[in-house]
Amino acid sequence: MKDGLALRRLFIAANWKMNTIRQEATELIRGIKDRMGSVSAVDIMVAPPFTVLESVGRELLNTRIQLGAQDVYFEKSGAYTGEISPGMLVDAGCTYVIIGHSERRQYFAENDEMVNKKVMAGLKSYLVPILCVGESWEERKQGKTFFVLNQQILFGLQGIDNHDLSSLVIAYEPVWAIGTGKSATIEQAQEVHAYLRNVIQEFSSREVAEAVRILYGGSMNPNNARDLLSQRDVDGGLIGGASLKAETFSTLVEIAEEVQRWKHHE
Ligand code: PGA
Repeated sequence: MKDGLALRRLFIAANWKMNTIRQEATELIRGIKDRMGSVSAVDIMVAPPFTVLESVGRELLNTRIQLGAQDVYFEKSGAYTGEISPGMLVDAGCTYVIIGHSERRQYFAENDEMVNKKVMAGLKSYLVPILCVGESWEERKQGKTFFVLNQQILFGLQGIDNHDLSSLVIAYEPVWAIGTGKSATIEQAQEVHAYLRNVIQEFSSREVAEAVRILYGGSMNPNNARDLLSQRDVDGGLIGGASLKAETFSTLVEIAEEVQRWKHHE
């Protein structure tokens, strides 16, 4: 183990967003499953829409691929028309939940307070939250990147104890890189990931900060994945567009597998 590096397994997570009806979802997950035979060094998750969680989950039984959801509500049950509770996600077979994705913040007015409640609620039900943070292009241009990320992390993780923190996953997703084909450079990604790890270290401990996995998201694809994943503080990817084709997603997992072995033997 070198400098805590070996403790973190690379994690490749698929965010299908609002795509796939049942038949498409089944075909996609079977395609992914069929190509996953020899993968053992990285963790893999797919987050399909709520409506196909159960059918995708059924396909994943006895595989190494975990099921996740794209959002959750923070109340346990009750009169919250249209919402889905953490318990419902666990019941549907989920182990992960994406929280605070920039599309939720942008189009559904999610703020840091709601994000924090969702993270807490997820943890209470033993779901692993994948907390998404990221700056807009405007904010980057104005030199506010670190300020924005600092706020999102500090508010998003308020009140969470060290034990829960170390199991958590963070996804750095610069808003300007999502779905644009223009990913962050390796220098930009590593700089922010190191910064985020430092923020976590400041309000918890070095041990916790070294355990937390920080994924990069935003136009990750087979052409840029190797370089991004090779960075010291990049522990995986949250993949949107490139996760909707079984072959492309599997290629990303294979690349991660190679990088993981290389990182461990560093
Ligand atoms: P993208 O999306 O890979 O299509 O850029 C990533 C995400 O929004 O999680």
